[in-house]
Amino acid sequence: MTASELRKKYLEFFQSKGHAVISGKSLIPENDPTVLFNTAGMQPLVPYLLGAAHPLGTRLTDVQKCVRTGDIESVGDPSHLTFFEMLGNWSLGDYFKNEALSWSFEFLTSPRWLGISPDKLWVTVFAGEDGIPRDEESADLWKSLGIPAHRISYLGRKDNWWGPAGQTGPCGPDSEMFYDTGRPCPKGEACEGPSCGCGRWLEIWNDVFMQYNKTAEGQYELLSKPNVDTGMGVERTSTILQGKKSVYETELFTPILAAVQKATGVTYGNSDGDDTNIRIICDHIKTACFILGDDLGVTPSNVGQGYVLRRLIRRAVRCGRKLGVLEPFLAGPAAAVLDIYRGVYDEVASRSALIFEELTREEEKFLKTLEHGEHEFEKMLPNLERNPKKEIPGRLAFKLYDTYGFPIEITEELAAEHGMTVDRPGFDEAFVKHQELSKAGADKTFKGGLADHSEMTTKLHTATHLMHKALQMVLGEHARQKGSNITPERLRFDFSHGEKMTEEQLRRVEAIVNEQIQRALPVSMTTMPIQEAKGLGAMALFGEKYEDVVKVYRIGDFSLEVCGGPHVENTGSLGHFRILKEEASSAGVRRIRAVLEDR
Ligand code: GLY
Repeated sequence: MTASELRKKYLEFFQSKGHAVISGKSLIPENDPTVLFNTAGMQPLVPYLLGAAHPLGTRLTDVQKCVRTGDIESVGDPSHLTFFEMLGNWSLGDYFKNEALSWSFEFLTSPRWLGISPDKLWVTVFAGEDGIPRDEESADLWKSLGIPAHRISYLGRKDNWWGPAGQTGPCGPDSEMFYDTGRPCPKGEACEGPSCGCGRWLEIWNDVFMQYNKTAEGQYELLSKPNVDTGMGVERTSTILQGKKSVYETELFTPILAAVQKATGVTYGNSDGDDTNIRIICDHIKTACFILGDDLGVTPSNVGQGYVLRRLIRRAVRCGRKLGVLEPFLAGPAAAVLDIYRGVYDEVASRSALIFEELTREEEKFLKTLEHGEHEFEKMLPNLERNPKKEIPGRLAFKLYDTYGFPIEITEELAAEHGMTVDRPGFDEAFVKHQELSKAGADKTFKGGLADHSEMTTKLHTATHLMHKALQMVLGEHARQKGSNITPERLRFDFSHGEKMTEEQLRRVEAIVNEQIQRALPVSMTTMPIQEAKGLGAMALFGEKYEDVVKVYRIGDFSLEVCGGPHVENTGSLGHFRILKEEASSAGVRRIRAVLEDR
């Protein structure tokens, strides 16, 4: 079964169980400062999982693009990926454990659907911890579906608890489904089952019973209505259905694998070390293409999503170096990525020119960094060689890293070429000290991101709508939203406009927004078909995919915008709006930071 058949069957199955199919969202979350990327299908649905009504009802299903860098160290093994697609089905206060588990089992095992042998399935359930009870209900349900007791493991929070996706939000105990690959465990009979980490057990699906909301204060409050959130991995499930040993052998990777072999001249399957590097390149180049090619895509930089992108590209370049490639080589593998997802995620292929340009630029830049670092290393060399210990001091290795961006692994490689070693503990110590310093800085930002649904962010969200409209009045209709990010301290808004705004224009925007605040306009929400919303002239994010039925927020007679909310009830509560800064964000895009102050 191909991945595209799997996606189709999944949606069809859940549609047959009364679920509305919604479209997956951008990889980059809008208005959620707690995360850089959507790491699970539930993420764009957080407001609904917290109780807001979804326009399409209480049973939803979709396919969502995800990026997770939390397990990046495991990438290179047969199943961990930084980019993957998640199939999901949700109950918003509708069905609970019984239906969720029965349907998961039916979809996995029924010959009408995936037809996986039930004998291959092992499951885990929550063992109970921190005053949250053991999930006997799920265990009993699994038994009644035919999973014998010895294939049901009870595990604690570390394994059987999911969420929140960011620092706050919905979460709860879960029940996970594993496929027994039959690969021998080094511990033999003593294998611990699904939690063993031996590579025999492949997690394919997770049913989360979302009963709690983790607050900014770290409390778990019960949700008024419990939800179900499930996530099934497309790449892993395809691997099983196709009888393959790793995700890289499915059609979601084979063309990339071929392109990497061609670009590096190294054959896959000859050496474990080379294979790991080839796999990491395949994974990272795919993720880089999806980040660059997203509707809300970003380019490499030193902050936020751009920094993750930069690290992925650089790591791929380093893996290439280990395979002997010293020139830019990622364009070929990137072309393979674009081909695989044409017709599935057309936004990526449609940005091919930008993707190739940015990739090659970043590769060239990093290769120059490496060259520069090597040059500095050579300058240090005569002194270093006089050192009787033949050891490069940690502080020098850290200087190469910190000042020239020279990765420690490369310093170690170069040292080895000259019969030397690096004082790694010394480097680590300098590194940790540096991390602590920057963490102190990061914690400040982090705190700002915590209260994403707090009162202040809600106010700033409404102010953003007012400003969006005011910008169009002052600059023209072309001044459309390109991105938005809100913390409790400020709003940040990117919009299309070709030149710097004048002081006068800025003051006019401020004045228009403050006038709407003074008018104390009521804010109301209605749901309607997207076509109707467009007909009414509602602003909708260009390039964003919308469900057929959408929420439209109306602010008095002033603004009408398609949006998920939340918003204040009346603009009178906003205070005084002030623009702090207007600057260039990228070509043709300007960025405004603004605040609301007490009057
Ligand atoms: N949200 C469920 C999962 O990611 O496993």
